[in-house]
Amino acid sequence: MIGVDLAGKRTLVTGAASGIGLAAAALFARNGARVAMNDLPGNPGLDREVARLGDAGLDVLAAPGDVGDGEDCRRMTERAISDLGGLDHLVNNAGTPATASPVPPADLEALGEDTWDRILSVNLVGPYRCARSAVAALRRSKGVIVNTCSVAGLTGAGSSTAYAASKAGLIAMTRGLAKALAPDVRVNAVAPGLVDSPWECRWPDDEEDARIGRVPLGRKGLPEDYAEGVLFLAGAGAYITGQTLVIDGGLTA
Ligand SMILES: NC(=O)c1ccc[n+]([C@@H]2O[C@H](COP(=O)([O-])OP(=O)(O)OC[C@H]3O[C@@H](n4cnc5c(N)ncnc54)[C@H](O)[C@@H]3O)[C@@H](O)[C@H]2O)c1
Repeated sequence: MIGVDLAGKRTLVTGAASGIGLAAAALFARNGARVAMNDLPGNPGLDREVARLGDAGLDVLAAPGDVGDGEDCRRMTERAISDLGGLDHLVNNAGTPATASPVPPADLEALGEDTWDRILSVNLVGPYRCARSAVAALRRSKGVIVNTCSVAGLTGAGSSTAYAASKAGLIAMTRGLAKALAPDVRVNAVAPGLVDSPWECRWPDDEEDARIGRVPLGRKGLPEDYAEGVLFLAGAGAYITGQTLVIDGGLTA
């Protein structure tokens, strides 16, 4: 695992109660940053993980809020920046498949308007909302945005066509914001493949085995495998902007 000196840096990670976001929050804090951990209001996992990392001596605080809700997202982001005393890193990681099982891509009727709306609002507009509320603070600190996309955004596969489209949009937004906010703020993304996390969409066991079987490195990625990429793009990589770093064990190679 790489290490970067983040002493004095301030980080907001969305979707940080679990999986990649939790691993990123812990990694940034272990490297010296003060970290605001966002997740959905009422998610008991958020308070539990903030308390656990705090007990371990890390400088973390809770920033509950729904990034899929415009007003709540603005309130959460502004409050987190105020609590942190500024912002150096915005990690837009919160995401949802909005389905407990994959939606067959050929069954166009199965993907309803509500599912489209929730997926786009959380996965695509959410990062834009957070960026909009954070941009002044990030310009002041010459800060960094890192978005969690997905290889689904490159291949069109994944839990649903809407999910893949949301992540393709986020890859495009990463490029667009990188140009718009340069040279003050760098904007990059990671695109995970299979993730060993409590992600709410589950594949049937036999399909899951087949999916893992297509990964050249022979396993799902751990949240820490992805958090390391986020740390690299935020804490190093001074000449990298507008890029999406694929981390997938070779799945799309
Ligand atoms: N799990 C996968 O297979 C996979 C693959 C590629 C990319 N990703 C992406 O990685 C990111 C993290 O996923 P993960 O695998 O760690 O899953 P996870 O379920 O462990 O973590 C996602 C977290 O985001 C939170 N969240 C969901 N909606 C939110 C909202 N509206 N506001 C605030 N928080 C919200 C959840 O409560 C959860 O704690 C997501 O953006 C996801 O799309 C996941």
